[in-house]
Amino acid sequence: MVRLLVACLLLIFAGSFAQTKATKATVKPPVLSRKVLIVYLSRTSNTKAVAGMIHQAVGGTLVALDLQTPYPGNYPATVQQVASENEKGYLPPLRTRIDNIQQYDVLFVGFPTWGMQLPPPVKSFLKQYDLRGKTLVPFNTNASYGVGSSFETVKALAPHSTVLEGYSTRGGVERDGVLFVMDGNKEKQVQREVTAWLKKINLLPKP
Ligand SMILES: Cc1cc2nc3c(=O)[nH]c(=O)nc-3n(C[C@H](O)[C@H](O)[C@H](O)COP(=O)(O)O)c2cc1C
Repeated sequence: MVRLLVACLLLIFAGSFAQTKATKATVKPPVLSRKVLIVYLSRTSNTKAVAGMIHQAVGGTLVALDLQTPYPGNYPATVQQVASENEKGYLPPLRTRIDNIQQYDVLFVGFPTWGMQLPPPVKSFLKQYDLRGKTLVPFNTNASYGVGSSFETVKALAPHSTVLEGYSTRGGVERDGVLFVMDGNKEKQVQREVTAWLKKINLLPKP
């Protein structure tokens, strides 16, 4: 009798254990269990500020893309150099190295619009690493002319990645001497927009 009782209890226990395992296996992993990398290029810190907001919201590793040879401080000289690099397809070497990029599942990639294109250093980054199977999320600041071809170029340079809907906002206008603008009301507005965007693309961790 006792043996029968023990056998029944064991069966019930084994059944509930199997059920727990099955339930766990079918649950979609929460966003936080996906490893996040946020890389950004920023000259006058507007894109850097947006990168910081994303980092605050989703966590992960935040990395600035630095060049082996930085662009000149002078704006027109930089515009000219970028135009020439785009024309030649030159990919400026990066000083920044990402250790073991394979560990990341979701990569936010931030940049300003330069010459209505993706800046050459970001092209260098996307070409340099094997990003197949990863989820890429572009974000951008610009002087109000929009993203140009930049988001499309992200897709073209990462053909084996899933590229989610990007975020873009007006940043500085260096040409007119307007550099950093991500403070006061603008900062609050961008903060709200970034939160709404992350929610929309399902990358905002649940509280
Ligand atoms: C070389 C260069 C080229 C730029 N070209 C454009 C452009 O084509 N369209 C645009 O809207 N803004 C352009 N901008 C302005 C930047 O996109 C804008 O100021 C952005 O917010 C800068 O971001 P950052 O502060 O992160 O560097 C250019 C800026 C630089 C330095």
